[in-house]
Amino acid sequence: MNTLVPNPFNPQFGKRPKQFIGRELIINNFLQSLGDINDPHRTTVVTGIRGFGKTAVLSDIHASLDPKEYMVIDITAHDGMLLEILDEFIRGSKGKKWLSSAFEKMQGFSVGALGFSFGVTKSDNSDSHSFRFMVSEMLDELKQKSIKTVFLIDEVHNDTPEMREFAITYQHLVREEYDVSLFMAGLPSSVNDVLNDKVLTFLRRAHRVELESINNKAVEIAFFEAFDQGGRKFIGDSLTAAAKATMGYPYLIQLLGYFLYKGNKEEIDERFVEQSLTLAKIELFKNVHDMLLQALSVKDRDFLFAMTSGEEPVSFSDVRAQLGVTPGYASKYRERLMVAGIIKSAGHGKLGFAPPYMGEYLREKMFE
Ligand SMILES: Nc1ncnc2c1ncn2[C@@H]1O[C@H](COP(=O)(O)OP(=O)(O)O)[C@@H](O)[C@H]1O
Ligand SMILES: [Mg+2]
Repeated sequence: MNTLVPNPFNPQFGKRPKQFIGRELIINNFLQSLGDINDPHRTTVVTGIRGFGKTAVLSDIHASLDPKEYMVIDITAHDGMLLEILDEFIRGSKGKKWLSSAFEKMQGFSVGALGFSFGVTKSDNSDSHSFRFMVSEMLDELKQKSIKTVFLIDEVHNDTPEMREFAITYQHLVREEYDVSLFMAGLPSSVNDVLNDKVLTFLRRAHRVELESINNKAVEIAFFEAFDQGGRKFIGDSLTAAAKATMGYPYLIQLLGYFLYKGNKEEIDERFVEQSLTLAKIELFKNVHDMLLQALSVKDRDFLFAMTSGEEPVSFSDVRAQLGVTPGYASKYRERLMVAGIIKSAGHGKLGFAPPYMGEYLREKMFE
């Protein structure tokens, strides 16, 4: 066993892990679209609940783009993002001497959010330009050097006016045939709000991808390789058991992998997988499930707790009976929880929980 090899698993949010599994297709579709101005994947939005690997996908795309060919604007949606976008352009132009005029102009500008009408003003206040103007200036310059611009926006939601301003600008840029593309990520319900926003209709045409659980076999292979490289091996059925226990949920893959590795065992058996899973679940419940529950209304929670009374998957009519409410009322909550990615349809009027071990978590919670 090689104890010098650092733990290859990293259960932290917002990092592209070493063991990055199963997102090739989504990423390749986007990267390929960068070569074809008419490819619909050029505006893509991925959704998934916390821990599904949205930020990791963005980081992987960023790392795949050659800065000689691409200006990558990598930000998180918030009020202040427009200024940050301009800053990213400036930062990305560092060391590229030929990116002169537009960027020099930029340095002389002071940027301030003037209420809702975001304005970029020259320091002497004699001139004022819109966000769109500033971005177009820079894109003109980039165009001359055949540099494409890729916007990566994490945690999109529609309750920031600047996200709207950005979307409107982006739409103009596309119409004007600038070589720009956009990859966004967000929570299912936030993205839903964005796509249903009257001002942001343009984004409705975005290619939408719901992140899926990682394939079980792919998890097995990744586990096998990571442990093999560290001189450790799985014995008996422990490899299959470990992969299965993750339910293909990215954050749990990192958590379980981390605890299995940390145990410093040359041979990993099923008992040790069980023990590590117990530790992993403690972190999972604290860092994901608690937060998911906190974001819900009391009524949403009642619905979830009612779902724990039977065997999973539970039938919708049982949940409704348990709650003692009308079908219309229960349907409304079912719908909301589905859109939020907390529950999923299991066919034939049955419902299941979407996050791994959610039922177990809620049962524990009930007795607290
Ligand atoms: N494709 C993947 N394979 C394995 N682990 C992943 C994958 N994507 C993300 N992870 C891990 O899962 C955790 C959550 O990822 P993150 O991108 O922060 O999720 P999100 O942004 O959706 O909340 C991190 O620890 C990350 O390392
Ligand atoms: Mg994230």
